[in-house]
Amino acid sequence: MKHLRKAIAATVLLLSAPVGAQAEPSPAYEGQRLYVSYCQLCHGTDGKGDGPLAKSMGLTPADLTTTVRARSDAILTRIITGDGAPTITGRDRHNLISDAMPEWKDIFDADEIASLIAWLRFMSRAKHDLAGDPQAGFELFDKYCTVCHGEDGYGDGVMGKLLALSPMDLTNPNETDRFTNAELAEAILDGSGRYMPAWRGILTGEDVDALVSYIRLLAF
Ligand code: HEC
Ligand code: HEC
Repeated sequence: MKHLRKAIAATVLLLSAPVGAQAEPSPAYEGQRLYVSYCQLCHGTDGKGDGPLAKSMGLTPADLTTTVRARSDAILTRIITGDGAPTITGRDRHNLISDAMPEWKDIFDADEIASLIAWLRFMSRAKHDLAGDPQAGFELFDKYCTVCHGEDGYGDGVMGKLLALSPMDLTNPNETDRFTNAELAEAILDGSGRYMPAWRGILTGEDVDALVSYIRLLAF
């Protein structure tokens, strides 16, 4: 679905004027924003189940960083929305969860649920931590990087096309996972190859950590 949405976004981009177009955040980026506002209270910053509300309500939420790995998107959707859970029987019984997990079906639409799931997958599968604030990173990326790297991070920005550059596809984990956070930060600060500019002096270390975190989320 992510790819379909990206394909549609790419078509729209070709039809409309690309200049001034906004960066297109990934599902995991959106999911993290929702998670921070709605889920972190119980599930904790890292999904370990140690949020402040869980403590005061005497709840012990599951450690999402381990449990969601074994769960399909369909089951996670049911768990989050609360929809269809009563019909799960027999060997699926372990997917029934307690009343303590709120039912979010009237709060989020299908895209938002998919985004939340992308973020849960990031928390359980990502090879590298988020070193900085992805929301700050998103704004910086939109401002400085989309011109070459493209709104989605595919590497198809206007300047990239004009100069026939081919920046790496930042949405592809096979490309970005090879680099540690420190290596990505270094590439941004000191530049890379002939056409990836060095941003030292323009961006602070904190800015660059934020950018690296945003790039990590582009892969989910
Ligand atoms: C009021 C506290 C609370 C809030 C807020 C909350 N949860 Fe939960 N959640 C729980 C509890 C408690 C459980 C464990 C229930 C159980 O094991 O039967 C749980 C379980 C889950 C599970 C299943 C874990 C597993 O694999 O067994 C998922 C997924 C989940 N929550 C996602 C979310 C998401 C996404 C949000 C935000 C939209 C959210 N939760 C908000 C309390 C909460
Ligand atoms: C002038 C065009 C241009 C701009 C602007 C630009 N990049 Fe790049 N970027 C490139 C090119 C071209 C490459 C591929 C370099 C290579 O082949 O080594 C690249 C590579 C990268 C890489 C991978 C590192 C590597 O060794 O290949 C990262 C990470 C990156 N850019 C992040 C950013 C960020 C973050 C910004 C905004 C602050 C940015 N880029 C702005 C052109 C650009």
